[in-house]
Amino acid sequence: MASQKAEFIKVATAAEIPPGGTRAVKLDERRSVALFNVDGRIYATNNQCPHMGYPLTRGTVRHGVVTCDWHGRSFDLAGGGCFMPGCDDLETFPVELRNGDVWIGVENRAYARKDQHLRLLWEGLLRSDEWTIAKGIGLLQAGGVPDGEIAQVCLRHLGRHVTTEGGPEAGGKVSSLINGIKVARKYEGEDKLIALAGAARATAGEAGQRQPIKPLPPPVTWEKIEGLCRVFSRDRMAPGIERCLLTALQNDQRLTARENDENNDRILTLLYQCVADDHFLGFPDNLTSMANLCQIVSEFGWERSQELVCNLGAKLAGRRRSEPQLFLRVAIETMKSLTPASPEIEDVRAQPAGWQGRDEDAFAAAIAGADVKKAFEAVGAVLKAGLPVERVIDTFVLLAADRMARTPVNVNSGWPELTTELNLSVSLRTACKYGGARVTANALFHTAYQFFQDRWLNIPVRSLSDALEPGRLAAGDETSGIAEICGSIQALDVHNVGPQVRGYLDAGFSGQRLLHEMGRVILKDDTGQSIVPTLASIFEEWELLKGQPSRNQLLVGLARYAADVRRNKNSQGFAQTALRFAEGRTTVDVFEK
Ligand code: FES
Repeated sequence: MASQKAEFIKVATAAEIPPGGTRAVKLDERRSVALFNVDGRIYATNNQCPHMGYPLTRGTVRHGVVTCDWHGRSFDLAGGGCFMPGCDDLETFPVELRNGDVWIGVENRAYARKDQHLRLLWEGLLRSDEWTIAKGIGLLQAGGVPDGEIAQVCLRHLGRHVTTEGGPEAGGKVSSLINGIKVARKYEGEDKLIALAGAARATAGEAGQRQPIKPLPPPVTWEKIEGLCRVFSRDRMAPGIERCLLTALQNDQRLTARENDENNDRILTLLYQCVADDHFLGFPDNLTSMANLCQIVSEFGWERSQELVCNLGAKLAGRRRSEPQLFLRVAIETMKSLTPASPEIEDVRAQPAGWQGRDEDAFAAAIAGADVKKAFEAVGAVLKAGLPVERVIDTFVLLAADRMARTPVNVNSGWPELTTELNLSVSLRTACKYGGARVTANALFHTAYQFFQDRWLNIPVRSLSDALEPGRLAAGDETSGIAEICGSIQALDVHNVGPQVRGYLDAGFSGQRLLHEMGRVILKDDTGQSIVPTLASIFEEWELLKGQPSRNQLLVGLARYAADVRRNKNSQGFAQTALRFAEGRTTVDVFEK
């Protein structure tokens, strides 16, 4: 409904709209108005159907209700109310007849439909309706609503969806949300919308009701909460952990929100201690999901994140697992025996301190070899030596990227395993920040175990300090080089894209720019959403690993991964249509031209 402050403008003469007739009038570049004469009374509405933009002047009017001719959504002509799901209400305008002319009241275009569009997005999430999600986000963005506010709707929905419908594997949805938000920040316009809509779509699904969980009756101390959570984690009692965590949440009115958040972060440390425990060896998603939950809290604060974090965190810490078989039991015992009682871990990025005379290549070879004992001994040795942990993490990341850059692609390249290695290695930085020394030490063993589990990939070990094989790029300048590489990704040319990226980087062209453009290609493909967490990791690591001889393998690996898993389909359709819809440029224009 238009506001009281509408400014009246003349749009037609009454004679131009006879009883039963309709007329479309273009107000400006973004708006077309539909005029309807129903039994002598004139109604004015937006001509763009709120569902997908078909012109309503082509619809059918009965009993004061217009029914769109495309998918049959119906709207009350007087107030604009929609009678079906999947679209919001229709914008209407007050009408006055002055001396045989039709005048309508038009609002001064402040964005007046924000609440409706937030609701529309929520509806799309509940119904897993891809179009409604993209349209809602497109409209909100066009209205100037910040991305963070849009993401909050997705987070709130995801929290309820996970608590009522999801298990520990729902960590994948959290990963898509937080990494989609990070990637969206790198882009504008259509690319940003694709990234955000993809992140939102990953959170979609049914969300049921449940009673709020009451805090435990007093007396309850933090020490008691810590002890109980550890016991419940061992006993696979996720609900007990969740109730303890919700009891521990602090919202002290005397403190600022930031101070309360900082105090509540001890919950993340406690959860980390549980999910990184030795009995979770072989559950790499425990650590990657935990890292994503920490980033959710950092992005949105505890108040908005608590339902998701306490529920999913408890499900990860208390997840069901069978008794480990002999082989895994031996690995767990080895891990325990090699972990120093009080690991000395420096949690700041120590530059330029590196491997301090120790052999990084020998460490990487032990991790990538097929002997779990040697791999664990290598981790135990760096822990004992007190090497700067960030350098050890760098090595894990570089090793994972190097394996992505060199995995054979003829049969099974092992992309799920390889990207798990990379994202798990990257998540070590968050484990270090939130979990403390013991958690970081355990997490290094978990990561080493993931590489060991992937020994079937048979990727020969290579020295990370050796120069890479020279590349092959036909193009002679940066822009053509990017086009050549992106063209290979689009053409699924996984055999040539690696040498092309190496050739591009050998020539001294900008890796940052190449990464940005490869990201655009990835976002626009059907497979883009599954690559987004890895893309986000590579965006971060490309900056962090400046100066490392093997850094280029991050981009080589990404290009090969994208080219190999791509389905060669363009998935930007929804985003493009949603953008045009939000700008008022959809089928209305097509029909009025
Ligand atoms: S019902 Fe109008 S465009 Fe779909």
